[in-house]
Amino acid sequence: MKKGHVLKPVKKAVFPVGGMGTRFLPATKAVPKEMLPVVDRPLLQYAVDEALAAGIEQMIFVTGRGKAALEDYFDVAAELENLLRARGKEVELRVLEGTRLSPGSIAYVRQQEPAGLGHAVWCARHITGDEPFAVLLPDELLWNPTDPCLAQMVRARNEVGGTVIAVMEVPEKETHRYGIVDPGASHGALTEVKGFVEKPKPGTAPSRLAAVGRYLIEPECMALLAEGRRGAGGEIQLTDALAQLIGRQPFHAYTYSGARFDCGDKAGHVTANIALALARPDIGPAVRAWLDANVR
Ligand code: UTP
Repeated sequence: MKKGHVLKPVKKAVFPVGGMGTRFLPATKAVPKEMLPVVDRPLLQYAVDEALAAGIEQMIFVTGRGKAALEDYFDVAAELENLLRARGKEVELRVLEGTRLSPGSIAYVRQQEPAGLGHAVWCARHITGDEPFAVLLPDELLWNPTDPCLAQMVRARNEVGGTVIAVMEVPEKETHRYGIVDPGASHGALTEVKGFVEKPKPGTAPSRLAAVGRYLIEPECMALLAEGRRGAGGEIQLTDALAQLIGRQPFHAYTYSGARFDCGDKAGHVTANIALALARPDIGPAVRAWLDANVR
């Protein structure tokens, strides 16, 4: 980063939760994908906790049709809490308290049609204003309880400024499902980005470094999203708008260290449940015993 340049801290996070979740039908007919639990917490809670750990103060949820459960989730459930109090259920009360966000720190924006991730992010433009912001896709569960992904990225951004996207290596045969980075020089976990392409056709990916749903973005991206250009799948892609910033400002991929579960995918979701259950002292032994007895 240039000497004398003052980097604005990232205090706002956008959670695009307006997708249809077709891979999880029929469950997502009535339950938003982001509310599907991993063990006992909705996916969205993991993403919010990750944002809080990175110093985010304002959470912006870009919701859509059928996502009311998500808005209710962050309300204080007064009746439920009174009942728990009356019955002396202190542990459960503390669980609920742990999910409470400070008043005024949540904003909801509607995405009127699921026109793509880029479109969802653009819907938050009046709230992000001229500040840098984070984007977290809650169906990507990035699990590192000691040093969560977004906090790792914020530290990296403090060194280099500009755009930072979290990446992990994926198998060659899966690159067509992701935003893939064309890498330049690497310094530790940071890699300069020379190009960024959404869902490259099989055999054309510039690397195996795939975006895994965490971004630190400069406000200039919103003007590019406003152009409304359609990309892969006929959707307005965040990747395409970000790619236009390459060369205009620092742009790095950050190789996240920790576990990743693609919970928008059934196998990823089941795997996340097993992995996180095994790590829990209360239910881990029972799950392990079942696996030992039934899984070779
Ligand atoms: P996905 O590609 O997983 O799409 O979106 P989806 O609709 O949620 O799920 P499938 O593929 O039909 O099963 C990645 C992220 O972008 C959000 C989703 O909510 C998810 O967090 N998204 C996607 C939006 O908010 N709006 C959109 O128009 C598209």
